[in-house]
Amino acid sequence: MQVYLDNAATTPMDVQVIEKMTEVMHDCFGNASAIHGQGRKAKAVVEMARKEIATLLNCASSELIFTGSGTEADNMALRCAVNDLNVTHIITSEIEHKAVLDTAKELQAKGLARITFIKLDALGRADLEDLENIAKQNPGSLISLMHANNEIGTLNDITAISKIARDNDCYFHTDTVQTIGHYPIDLKDWDVDFVACSAHKFHGPKGVGFLYKNKALRIRPIVTGGGQEGAMRAGTENVTGIAGLAKALEVASRNIEVKIDTVQRIKAYFKEQLLSEVKGVCFNGDTSNEGGLYTVLNVSLPPSDNASTLLFQLDMNGICASGGSACNSGAVGDSHVLNGILHPTDRSALRFSFSKFTTKEEVDYAISKLKELI
Ligand SMILES: Cc1ncc(COP(=O)(O)O)c(C=O)c1O
Repeated sequence: MQVYLDNAATTPMDVQVIEKMTEVMHDCFGNASAIHGQGRKAKAVVEMARKEIATLLNCASSELIFTGSGTEADNMALRCAVNDLNVTHIITSEIEHKAVLDTAKELQAKGLARITFIKLDALGRADLEDLENIAKQNPGSLISLMHANNEIGTLNDITAISKIARDNDCYFHTDTVQTIGHYPIDLKDWDVDFVACSAHKFHGPKGVGFLYKNKALRIRPIVTGGGQEGAMRAGTENVTGIAGLAKALEVASRNIEVKIDTVQRIKAYFKEQLLSEVKGVCFNGDTSNEGGLYTVLNVSLPPSDNASTLLFQLDMNGICASGGSACNSGAVGDSHVLNGILHPTDRSALRFSFSKFTTKEEVDYAISKLKELI
């Protein structure tokens, strides 16, 4: 049996997305910047996709810049804030995705910005009092805090963080790579400056995402060499990928409450079965429906002889899981997120992540194998 429980790393593509992309590949091969008929056809696909996404997220089409990944969108937010908005101080957390952390660290190493890491609680949630104090002392900073952590699933309160940013004249970027397509999101309501999205986390294609940029901001591209994306990101548009992204978001947004409920039940079942079948397990991050991603369960295992090869053994049994963020070595590795929440070093952790395609039978199989292996 093959069981895919690594949906936070990437998701299988939805058949409706594949169909849409296949149609675009056949019929709209033109370069979206070309002025002839085929070019205009491709351009229309890109602009229609932008409009659909803007409608679903309640923002203006002009606020969306298509990118090659969520990583690129995060890079753009931080680098443009420093390059173009006079940001010299970044307020973030130790458990952000590396797309944010490494970018902030590079900007600091170059002497372009200082970093302050805020305090987190034991579940990995931003300490809002600490954030407010730091923001108060540093107006003009960029706050970069993720909506949901990709390893432990803990959710931050974006509206509350946005209010702190606004009250203290700070900019606010949030990495929503694990939440767009998973929750209904209203960007007007959120009132943020930058948002990063990646299509492959919600059954769309890899290699395409976008940066939402609040229209009040004036920034310049970090990828130069052409006037695409309203002169905000040079390079011939990935027309097929962009169409796939819009389709994936449309499919994900349809009956989203039903999908949330279904996946929440699968996760609850997995958790319940683990607790009853595997002695000594506990969980990292917020595993509640209100406070954590319904797609992610980070499992903390008691010390054992085969802990370090568990992922490999699961893989040998047809089960794909992960040791944290995308982990391809088959080993349970060191995690900056688990270090950030002070996970005991003698325990190892596995991340299981679910999607609308995960079945109860798959969960039963995974639990039976885990029971055998631990
Ligand atoms: C929270 C978060 N941010 C950013 C990324 C990077 O997105 P992409 O794979 O599109 O580069 C990921 C992917 O794992 C993620 O989980």
